[in-house]
Amino acid sequence: MSVPRPAAVIVLAAGEGTRMKSQTPKVLHEVCGRALVDHMLAAARDLGPEQLIVVIGHALERVGGHLAATSPDARAVVQREQRGTGHAVRTVIEEVGTISGTVLVTYGDVPLLRTQTLTDLLERHEAEGNAVTVLTAEVPDPTGYGRIIRDEAGAVLEIVEEKDAGAEQRAIKEMNSGIYAFDGLLLADAVKRVSTDNAQGEEYLTDVLAILRRDGHRVGACVAGDFVEVEGVNDRVQLAAARKVLNQRLLERHMRAGVTIIDPASTWIDVGVRIGPDAVIHPGTQLHGATVIESGAEVGPATTLTDTLVGEGAVVRNAVADHAEIGPEASVGPYAYLRPGTVLGRKSKAGTFVEMKNTKVGERSKVPHLTYAGDATIGQDVNIGASTVFVNYDGVNKHHTTVRDGAFVGCDTMLVAPLTVNEGAYTAAGSTITDDVPPGAMGVARARQRNIEKWVLRRRAGTKSAAHAERALAEQEQENQQ
Ligand code: UD1
Ligand code: CA
Repeated sequence: MSVPRPAAVIVLAAGEGTRMKSQTPKVLHEVCGRALVDHMLAAARDLGPEQLIVVIGHALERVGGHLAATSPDARAVVQREQRGTGHAVRTVIEEVGTISGTVLVTYGDVPLLRTQTLTDLLERHEAEGNAVTVLTAEVPDPTGYGRIIRDEAGAVLEIVEEKDAGAEQRAIKEMNSGIYAFDGLLLADAVKRVSTDNAQGEEYLTDVLAILRRDGHRVGACVAGDFVEVEGVNDRVQLAAARKVLNQRLLERHMRAGVTIIDPASTWIDVGVRIGPDAVIHPGTQLHGATVIESGAEVGPATTLTDTLVGEGAVVRNAVADHAEIGPEASVGPYAYLRPGTVLGRKSKAGTFVEMKNTKVGERSKVPHLTYAGDATIGQDVNIGASTVFVNYDGVNKHHTTVRDGAFVGCDTMLVAPLTVNEGAYTAAGSTITDDVPPGAMGVARARQRNIEKWVLRRRAGTKSAAHAERALAEQEQENQQ
């Protein structure tokens, strides 16, 4: 059966979320790289609604600003005072007008809700010709939730909030998820008739069910297969729990698509991450944002990548990278830090204790150990010796260094930018290079060595060094005499 597109999805997100104890509005807290409200909007979008509406109120500027930036297709409706879920929906209808067709109402704090579950709800709603269909779930502990009251035949009679419920009703384990499919015209009429005559003095959206039933309309329920999906996030314990469930779902999807994940429990992946088949993700790895791992690449252990591309067959170990591009078969780490603008060519290397920023490394070039490269262009087949520093900052401005194809930079070279080490040129180990080195030349910039004979015997007499030196010198003398 084809599911009809809902006329509107209304996401309620005006509440404060006090239990988060946060400066950040609840629905903007993130799990797996996406704000709670954006998870709901993504699932809602999959249904193809004609209108996507978000009710906002608390932290209006921040939530409204976030939505305008990330969900321009959503219309924000402001509910100045949060006078209940019924009031929130009434506010929407007063502002956008009566919506004919199916109206889905949901919350901004249910990140685990799957599109399929919403589709099931819409299908049931349609098939039964209901005025309202509520998504419910059997939960082990229904404390705090509204309870679903059914008659002996199992028909839904009403929803009673915990604070208004008697002991017998409180024993009911079937909870109201707060997610419903409504007939838009009937909703518009019924929501105006909701009273505030209850324990909280609020306009309860839940009352619409009893109102519609009394009017003689069909009221139905759809029981969610997994109650975890409809549990909202109210505090940071639930936030962590939701993140874990969502992460596990994402990992399973990747594993089923051919990605090896050695330790799912210590691997954290954002929703926007893409991973190719036969990639291997080692323990302690976090992949954030729009990170892409191409097939056959190996990432981790203990690696954190943000908005980074890892090419086919590349190996990235114990590394942190942010907005970097790691070419196919390149090698990174262990213990490397690639900052924004790092681009590593095919088969290149950024090795141990190497930091790079805004630096392009050509194919097959190696930066194996203990190096800082900032604002540099490194050609192909270049070797950068251990302990090289691209001295890019003069205290006021940043300058660029170019190392051309086939160059060999000796260990412990300071490359004081701006300068160019040309094709095939060398620099002598320990040089502080301040001028261009011509193609094929050797740049030497260091003092010549001078040895002060027997200095240690005179100035460090009595030390172990002096004793060893004395013995060696005596042996030398003996050999010379023979
Ligand atoms: C509501 C339901 C309850 C259900 C539970 C599921 C009512 C009366 N009760 O209770 O049956 O079991 O959700 O989580 O509907 N909101 C607004 N404007 C308001 C009030 C709330 O936008 O004026 C938003 C909140 O931001 C929140 C959602 O609606 O996302 C639910 O509000 P909340 O006050 O948490 O309702 P509950 O008391 O949990
Ligand atoms: Ca709630």
